[in-house]
Amino acid sequence: MTTATGSSVRQGEVSFFVAMVATIAAIGGGLFGYDTGVISGAILYIKKEFPIDDATEGLVVSAVTAGALVSAMVAGVLADRGGRRLTNIAAGIVFAVASLLCAVANSVSTLIAGRFLVGCGIGLTSVGGPMYIAEASPARIRGTFVSLFQLAVTVGILLAYIAAALLAPSAAWRWMLGLAAIPGLLLAVGMFFMPESPRWLVKQGRRVDARAVLTQIDPHGNPDAALAQLEHDLAAEGQGTWADLLRRTLRPALIVGIGLAVFQQVTGINAVIYYAPQIFQAAGFTSDLTSLAATTGIGTINVLATFIAIWLVDRAGRRPLLIAGVLGMVTTLTVLGLAFRDAGSGTAGSLGLITAVCLAAYIVFFAFSLGPIVWLMISEIYPLRNRAQAVAVSTAANWGANFLVSLTFPILTNRLGSSHTFFIYAALGVVTLIFVIARVPETKGKTLEEISALWR
Ligand code: BGC
Repeated sequence: MTTATGSSVRQGEVSFFVAMVATIAAIGGGLFGYDTGVISGAILYIKKEFPIDDATEGLVVSAVTAGALVSAMVAGVLADRGGRRLTNIAAGIVFAVASLLCAVANSVSTLIAGRFLVGCGIGLTSVGGPMYIAEASPARIRGTFVSLFQLAVTVGILLAYIAAALLAPSAAWRWMLGLAAIPGLLLAVGMFFMPESPRWLVKQGRRVDARAVLTQIDPHGNPDAALAQLEHDLAAEGQGTWADLLRRTLRPALIVGIGLAVFQQVTGINAVIYYAPQIFQAAGFTSDLTSLAATTGIGTINVLATFIAIWLVDRAGRRPLLIAGVLGMVTTLTVLGLAFRDAGSGTAGSLGLITAVCLAAYIVFFAFSLGPIVWLMISEIYPLRNRAQAVAVSTAANWGANFLVSLTFPILTNRLGSSHTFFIYAALGVVTLIFVIARVPETKGKTLEEISALWR
């Protein structure tokens, strides 16, 4: 089987080095998940310590998304000029400082600033993490390794649910927010010892360094052939600028990357992840304990189902998983919409059960499709010349759409009701399905350079 380094490697043989690279970069994913998930629990106690109005509460919660949106663009510049490794180191430092700032905040404005900074860490890691892993992985296992990033996101979300439950009795919101400083530090220190991405090194003309890393990635490969191929492709592409994003040649890839990034959000995932307790309560799980248990269940299913992608993404490919997953999401959202509609008209008896089953199934479908594959494809479809800029724009679009959905979900459910809200997500799921079938190419097993060639 051909690898990114143009060599022949036996199936199942994985370089320890690549596994390390992926694991360390994935710590950023864990922080991404933890820091987006932890606030729903922490906010209850923050409100007790600082009396704040609804608008300020909204700011404390959404400052993270705003920070991620802004810093995704900054990450594009940093990843391009300073390198992929530096972007991840910066993410770790920002996470550590920001978490400590939140933990010691003695005013709401400091807390909002801390949360904004946490968001900056998330933006840096969501651009730098998957891109670094994708550029350092052999083609045949790239999907599995980049999916580790999403696995870490889901583990982070679950840990946040658990931390919220465990620390709730002592109202220890400062610990909930501050604990993230430890993995932040781990990310910065771990990445310090990791090498730079070979592709970025080639782009900088550092061929000796690039060759050394290529040898580490694929010890059985032919680093000279791989290096020659990378240099040849880059020479054909040339060095990129931000203005290139407007060029016609990049458009098909950008439509796929930005499209996937936005569809991942507008099909409602974070309405479920951020508002699961409220959805369960609306469905009749009235005690705090049952809705918390149900939420932790959702978090666990999210982690477990991500393994389906890790197992299949390089075997079945990206498209079949995306199509099956989105089809399943549309079905479960439609059933949820019908169930809440019938409950409204007084004809349904088992809304709680249907909700639990549908939400669980919806999470499974997301976790093996749009969850990991969107981050994977964003990091693999763009030509090296403009990869950093294009990944940054796609990631910013993802955070922008995330912001819109989390902002509008409570408004939609209040004005239109849960049933219609789920129908809207289902309809957008149908659009996603058509988009995937019509526009998204299969990238399984191809080197990043072969994927770039697809667009030419
Ligand atoms: C998405 C997040 C989401 C998470 C859920 C990620 O791929 O980008 O917005 O909260 O998956 O597991």
